[in-house]
Amino acid sequence: MPSIAEHVAFLRSIPYAAWYIVEHDHKPAGSIYLSKQDEIGIAIHSGFQRLGLAKQAIEELMRQHPRPRYLANIAPLNHMSQKLFAELGFNLIQQTFEKHGSSNT
Ligand SMILES: CC(C)(COP(=O)(O)OP(=O)(O)OC[C@H]1O[C@@H](n2cnc3c(N)ncnc32)[C@H](O)[C@@H]1OP(=O)(O)O)[C@@H](O)C(=O)NCCC(=O)NCCS
Repeated sequence: MPSIAEHVAFLRSIPYAAWYIVEHDHKPAGSIYLSKQDEIGIAIHSGFQRLGLAKQAIEELMRQHPRPRYLANIAPLNHMSQKLFAELGFNLIQQTFEKHGSSNT
């Protein structure tokens, strides 16, 4: 977890092209962003899931911020999110493997 100071510095760097709160019945239900590399990230609080909010928010984000293409970085075991993006027309293009080296530098 970043410290508060690191988090504030991150937000002050204006890392996103767009960032919104997702509301349901005027209550905050989650958030969505579009990065400057056209990546979409979304999180909906557990009490508000399966209401169609993520699908609606992603469609609205793409409508308001037209791009030639969008990306979504989804963990291989996050099947619900993979299903969500697949239903919105996203295709799997790569899986990235990582191995840590022995150097600490
Ligand atoms: C993934 C997440 C954003 C979905 O939000 P949501 O508002 O519940 O999604 P929606 O209600 O719009 O669901 C749209 C479709 O996604 C799929 N889906 C969503 N949640 C699912 C679940 N728990 N299991 C299986 N499929 C799921 C379904 O196909 C669903 O359509 P359906 O309800 O008609 O079957 C939400 O569960 C979440 O925030 N998870 C934790 C954070 C995360 O994984 N973020 C995405 C990282 S890229």
